[in-house]
Amino acid sequence: MGVIRAAIAGTGSFAPEKILTNKDLEKMVETTDEWIRSRTGMSERHISDEKTATSDLATAAALKALEAAGVKPEELDLVLVGTVTPDKIFPSTACFVQNNIGAVNAAAFDISAACSGFIYGLTIANSMIISGQIKTALVIGAETLSKYTDWKDRGTCILFGDGSGAVVIKSSDSGSGVLSSYIWSDGSGTKPGLLEIPGGGTRDPNGKRTIVMEGNDVFKKAVKGMEKCIDAALEKAGLAYGDVSLFLPHQANLRIIESIAKRMGLNAERVFVNLHKYGNTSAASIPIALDEANKAGRIKKGDVILLVAFGAGMTMGAAVIKW
Ligand code: UT7
Repeated sequence: MGVIRAAIAGTGSFAPEKILTNKDLEKMVETTDEWIRSRTGMSERHISDEKTATSDLATAAALKALEAAGVKPEELDLVLVGTVTPDKIFPSTACFVQNNIGAVNAAAFDISAACSGFIYGLTIANSMIISGQIKTALVIGAETLSKYTDWKDRGTCILFGDGSGAVVIKSSDSGSGVLSSYIWSDGSGTKPGLLEIPGGGTRDPNGKRTIVMEGNDVFKKAVKGMEKCIDAALEKAGLAYGDVSLFLPHQANLRIIESIAKRMGLNAERVFVNLHKYGNTSAASIPIALDEANKAGRIKKGDVILLVAFGAGMTMGAAVIKW
């Protein structure tokens, strides 16, 4: 028997129907389509309606991933949802998803790691699989950031979108699966105003409940932080930049992605970008991208996929997967 790894058995994603374009944003704040495209790479993003909560988006992606994997909900041992936009303070969004899909044999909980939520979730599920505690897990990233967006702040409202992505991972000795992951946090990034929703928690229950960000500072920290995580995850896997078949980074800004890809010497064919269609969907961005890349035939069996994320906290992490 070979080494036990956590292999990706199926992927799924979902985005609400309504699309908000850069042209729409021109009518809402002082900005231009040209500024948004050139500074971020974004063209449009999906926005959920009033009735839709994060667990609704998460459930839709989860059902697609289960179907693609050929796994029944009752086979799941674990349901994880990376999100910073939960349905409620409690119960967890993961418990809503568990109930919606009928994963009656699973443990379910949320991971609050902002944009790194999916990689943190994958790391936890992977550890539980390789230690033999569980066999099958559903890892989801889902957000409805539009509900926490200040639509008068041009520095943030142009960036974010709603959506969800999910993967089913299974214990496997086929050689495929997570080769390594590395997660790290820098709690000094909790500095007020850097990247946060200041109010609504126990510190300031009645404070401002929309996203606040010092974009340029976060930009620089994101590049450095993701480079550190990439180097650590690749080193753990015993691989080099040149071994990466497809680089699939968190979709926050095209300039961030291009700067990291350039340092690694990766050409455009080896970098997956879909932020022009979704904006920054926080924890959902990597699993949405993974599902799109998978469906578009950009990933072949045996390929080495490098995931990397960075988010509020600051949280960051990278994972290397053999497909
Ligand atoms: O998901 C993980 C965390 N988030 C991120 O990774 C986001 C990281 N940050 C960014 O992506 C970029 O910093 C932004 C896209 C948010 C901003 O781009 P920037 O190149 O860092 O611009 P800036 O904040 O330095 O602003 C440059 C100028 C400013 O005007 P002045 O002071 O030079 O006159 C801003 O007021 O651009 C102005 N500006 C805008 N102009 C038109 C800011 N937002 C807009 C806008 N439209 N929407």
